[in-house]
Amino acid sequence: KTSPTTDALGRSLKDLRISVIDKCNFRCTYCMPKEIFGNDYAFLPETELLSFDEIIRITNAFAKLGVEKIRITGGEPLLRKNLSQLIAALTEIPGIKDIALTTNGILLPKRAVKLKEAGLKRVNISLDAIEDDVFTEINGRGVPIRPVLKGIEAAQKAGLQVKINMVVKKGMNESQILPMARFFKGKDIILRYIEFMDVGNHNGWDLKNVISKKQIIKQINEEMPLEAAEENYYGEVASRFRYKDGGGEIGVISSVTDSFCGTCTRIRLSADGKLYTCLFASSGYDIRGKLREGLTEEQLERNLASLWHRRTDRYSDERAEKKNENRKKIEMSYIGG
Ligand code: GTP
Ligand code: 5AD
Ligand code: SF4
Ligand code: SF4
Repeated sequence: KTSPTTDALGRSLKDLRISVIDKCNFRCTYCMPKEIFGNDYAFLPETELLSFDEIIRITNAFAKLGVEKIRITGGEPLLRKNLSQLIAALTEIPGIKDIALTTNGILLPKRAVKLKEAGLKRVNISLDAIEDDVFTEINGRGVPIRPVLKGIEAAQKAGLQVKINMVVKKGMNESQILPMARFFKGKDIILRYIEFMDVGNHNGWDLKNVISKKQIIKQINEEMPLEAAEENYYGEVASRFRYKDGGGEIGVISSVTDSFCGTCTRIRLSADGKLYTCLFASSGYDIRGKLREGLTEEQLERNLASLWHRRTDRYSDERAEKKNENRKKIEMSYIGG
């Protein structure tokens, strides 16, 4: 086995997050506000998307460099045609131990069984509220919670492990912190609260709208006592908390008030084949261009390794140190979180 590929700050390369499409059937206010992502918004044309063969080639090279975990994202990844075929091929790659998908869930009733058969192990489903009047406002398409709950059910029934992602933003859904906890407690589903992050250029982020991990835990703990739990794997983004009464666990992803760049082992691949060494990067490395110029497997591997060796990103730590000027960032819907 080869030695681990480490970056300029000594962090190993372990996860590859692959965005397979930049489109989405929702218009969440904090991610793809419909005023910006309207009918005339220029999404990537199909010819610009990496082909499945290209994604597989890149993943293969990454696996040789130590990547073990794959996450499929979007936009909404289930809008990519024949996604199950890609997943089936990715599971065959030696060294890949975990394949997961992040989705808004509404296409899962149609797809969950096929995805599971293809080798998918788990899905993280976004749901920011459990009450219709709050949720319909957030998703920008007036979709009630029912189709998402159907998606969750379908995933569980198909044997996929389910986590729920809830972005918490003041003025948007803080009323839902407790109702969401009550709803998912004891259902063998891990609910994860996510601090609202300053991703992209259009989500109107302000520190004033962030509800901290501490506040979230305090609120839940008062009604349903919690205790801290150890991490499931090195560099897990969520801190885990267990209900003391055995009702399962929740997680909190605190990129703002308790950042985790020190253990960040993730690289991101956009749908049009650019590699980003941080969620908050301004520019990416065009690997699609290189592939289409006819690079060999060896050169590909060397390119990827050298990209990781040069990596110094630690945006969220720098935010805490107040070092971030007004830099331009990639869009969340383009890179998939
Ligand atoms: P698990 O493998 O189930 O732990 O998934 P995950 O939490 O790594 O992935 P998911 O796509 O469900 O993302 C949940 C939230 O964590 C999203 O808001 C992501 O944007 C955020 N997140 C994931 N990785 C990073 C990261 O490296 N940096 C920051 N700042 N946020 C991240
Ligand atoms: N802050 C935190 N999380 C976000 N997500 C999208 N935008 C933001 C943001 N500004 C979440 C989605 C999805 C995950 C991939 O990222 O809700 O669950
Ligand atoms: Fe909402 Fe996710 Fe779609 Fe963004 S990508 S608009 S967070 S469903
Ligand atoms: Fe990794 Fe960048 Fe997120 Fe820090 S901000 S954890 S370096 S992706």
